[in-house]
Amino acid sequence: MIHLSQARSSILFEADGDSFSILYWGKKIVVADKAAQESIVRALTKPSYHGALDVSPGNLILREHSRGWMGHPALRGHRSGVSASNAFTVKNLHHTDSTLTIDFADSIAGLEIKVTYTLTPSDILLMDAEVTNVAEGDYYLEHFLYWLPLAEQADEILDFYGHWTKERQPQRRSIGYGITSREGFEGRTGHDYTITQVALNHATGFRHGEAWSLGMAWSGNNIAHVERLIDGHKSIGAGEYLLPGEVILAKGQSYKAPRAVATFSDKGLDGVTNNHYTWIRSRSNHITKVKPRPLTLNMWEAVYFDHTEAAIRKMVDKAAEIGVERVVLDDGWFGSRRDDRSGLGDWVVSDEAWPNGLGPIIEYINDKGIEFGLWFEGEMVNRDSDIYRAYPDWILQEPGRIPVEGRYQQVLDLTKEGAYNHVLSQVDTVLTENNIGYIKWDHNRHLTDPISDGRPAVRQQTEAIYRLFDELKRRHPGLEIESCSSGGGRIDLGMIEHADRFWTSDQNDALERQEIQRWSALVIPPEFLGTHVGPTVGHQMHRTHSISFRVLNALFGHAGIEWNINEANAEETEVLKKYIAFYKQHRNLLHSGTVVRSDEIVGSAYLYGTVALDKKEAIFTYMQLTSIDNFGPLVTTFDGLDKDSRYQISVVEELSANEFTQKSPPGWWPSLALTGDHLAHIGVQLPVLKPESGLLFHIKAL
Ligand code: DGJ
Repeated sequence: MIHLSQARSSILFEADGDSFSILYWGKKIVVADKAAQESIVRALTKPSYHGALDVSPGNLILREHSRGWMGHPALRGHRSGVSASNAFTVKNLHHTDSTLTIDFADSIAGLEIKVTYTLTPSDILLMDAEVTNVAEGDYYLEHFLYWLPLAEQADEILDFYGHWTKERQPQRRSIGYGITSREGFEGRTGHDYTITQVALNHATGFRHGEAWSLGMAWSGNNIAHVERLIDGHKSIGAGEYLLPGEVILAKGQSYKAPRAVATFSDKGLDGVTNNHYTWIRSRSNHITKVKPRPLTLNMWEAVYFDHTEAAIRKMVDKAAEIGVERVVLDDGWFGSRRDDRSGLGDWVVSDEAWPNGLGPIIEYINDKGIEFGLWFEGEMVNRDSDIYRAYPDWILQEPGRIPVEGRYQQVLDLTKEGAYNHVLSQVDTVLTENNIGYIKWDHNRHLTDPISDGRPAVRQQTEAIYRLFDELKRRHPGLEIESCSSGGGRIDLGMIEHADRFWTSDQNDALERQEIQRWSALVIPPEFLGTHVGPTVGHQMHRTHSISFRVLNALFGHAGIEWNINEANAEETEVLKKYIAFYKQHRNLLHSGTVVRSDEIVGSAYLYGTVALDKKEAIFTYMQLTSIDNFGPLVTTFDGLDKDSRYQISVVEELSANEFTQKSPPGWWPSLALTGDHLAHIGVQLPVLKPESGLLFHIKAL
């Protein structure tokens, strides 16, 4: 038996003759000696059932049908119709207390598979695999999926669906018999992508209970499964969705499966979140280690395609006055791109939009101590563009057929050297000629015919964009990249290795966005998630929200503004200044602390916060989304602090709602000293808030 463990979780493997299986994945256990190992194996050995085979395999890593596994196999493929069956044996094994590498071989199938498990100190389980064809002739790989066993008490799945302006909507349902699948073949992860899927007990909440999550570190096509078999096996699986013929391995060639990222938590969904955050933040190049996340003004909703230098200068004046640190010029600065029908693909500054080039406006912005960022959408072309006219065969397409359009655009085939070099060199030139340390990189359509020279190429296209980002960063040290895809269409655990920020959603309505941000942040830390204060009357929902509700909504992320701030009235301008000052003062805590989400305040309101790792400070937000059923105000508890320490809890009144449905405020308002224990178990009485308003709390150890 091999036992990998860290502070809170364990995974046990068993070598049984030729086969290899996972005995257990869950809460940390101690396996004292050989006798204990043997007992565990015996305890978990299945009976063999009437009407079934004479063997009852455990949770085989490769799930070969030839060994009697009757669920989904890990590997599927063939050699032009033969060699579809396989039975792997262990050739080599290497392990430490936290890593295991197994080399499997099947001499009949002519295949080798290397699988590596790494249980990180943050209890994130990383899985990597490589499939190699070692025999003559081509092997047509259909899929390789990672699978992990689930405990009996995992009886529900939580995953996420969505569309443009409504990403990451939760769906929680019972695990029934058979397979529950989410498959994505948009050629990007997409708005409907779950990022991670979570198996959990029906009683698991944010603060308590067990949860097992699995997601892919990949930005292309994807599969997520939960499987419950009639023989009692229950498992969670994920992998890359391969199109027919996408991976054909000649002798000696390998398929490197994208990495899978899993975690077990016995501390509810907050544990899933905090394990991911700790792992992501432990990377040596994590973005907050490079610099605090600058307060960003994105110009898209402020000007759309109307790039008038004088108006933008005026906005920059106001941006400087209120404390903005980065200004991003969005779509419309290049080629013939005066609307979304033309110019995409021609990454040359437009004389028409910017007769003086970008130099003067960048200088103007930099002189005010503000950084400048610029928008690109390098994977796409309008057919009305110079580049398409010159190279019409540079798009992904089934030969002889032009794919349906999406926002009047086609996908540039970055697997073609010429197309890749065109984008790289044009973007590189703009970055070299101007002082630009930040790019927002968009991706605004599905890949409907992701075919390159007749063969499916999502995988190569995905690898090409990773390569392009990495190369741009190599050429321009310090360059940051924001991954946008019509809002949150390419937020995933693969892109976090190549990009530094995600545009969470094109939905800028603070009420709608609460849900989108809450669940996007399940495994993606807030320092990655762009959250912007929108205009008084939102452009998507046409709802009017107070400036307080809008700034509270934008605070728990990589904060910014998406609005023509010259339209802000005096009160809004003052609140914006205070929001920016508060963000700057507290961003280190917001971008490093432990997440706490209330299990009690859910439904008509949300309560969530970030507690400093040393528990000396915390910031919480109470957001009243809809009206509450009981007129009497709620008592709210604040979990996650040190129970023996005394804290001052204060309402940050300058950013909070200032109108309530009450005759007098709660007795403690606006500040009180309480112990961490009392904050967690007694709590404080809240005022009665109107819908679409919120409160900000600052909690500090005394
Ligand atoms: C879609 C993005 O999500 C927006 O933020 C903006 O950049 C537009 N594209 C520009 O075309």
